[in-house]
Amino acid sequence: MLRVAVCVSGGGTNLQAIIDAVASGKIAGTEIVRVISNKKDAYALERAAKAGIEAVCVSKEDHPDREAFEEALIAAVDAACADLIVLAGFLVVLPEKMIQKYRRRIINIHPSLIPSFCGKGFYGLRVHEAALERGVKITGATVHFVDEGTDTGPIIKQKAVEVLENDTPEVLQRRVMEQAEWVLLPETIDEIAAGEIKIGMERKN
Ligand code: GRF
Repeated sequence: MLRVAVCVSGGGTNLQAIIDAVASGKIAGTEIVRVISNKKDAYALERAAKAGIEAVCVSKEDHPDREAFEEALIAAVDAACADLIVLAGFLVVLPEKMIQKYRRRIINIHPSLIPSFCGKGFYGLRVHEAALERGVKITGATVHFVDEGTDTGPIIKQKAVEVLENDTPEVLQRRVMEQAEWVLLPETIDEIAAGEIKIGMERKN
């Protein structure tokens, strides 16, 4: 059984796609053991609760400084004893210590074809605004391992999505989610669970 922890900050539609894929068997041999949010009001927390998954919140507000917050975040991740950590719309710059500890065991989904429209400042609608401003005809989503940079880790999987005339950032965001993100992330997890995609072996806690 692949033990998966999912980190979220918002609506959690990607989390839902994973939950549904585990339930339907599209993702085999996998258990979502914990959902961690940095936002108390993240709807993703409710999605986890509805699915009977342990959900915890580690918020900056509840800690005196960045260091204390980072320690608490790492502790929450460690407590999951997860083989794989999935960042599904997690808007926190990960502590370096966590990246080192979980090398090649943290994956992120980004809503563009990296290396386009990624890096610092490219999150949420901004990614799709930039794609429309540039006039690209194809965009998509990327799943990649997380390293010390922003969206710079090894690419695992990508899926292309057409940009249509008259797209607004919101319409394009929705199409990228439906056609790419919600497909790609469950597929990746299933392939990791099946051993087709290799992740870091060592569980260091
Ligand atoms: C997604 O577009 C994801 O690619 C990005 O943040 C968004 C999260 O959406 N990293 P949701 O919370 O999964 O609905």
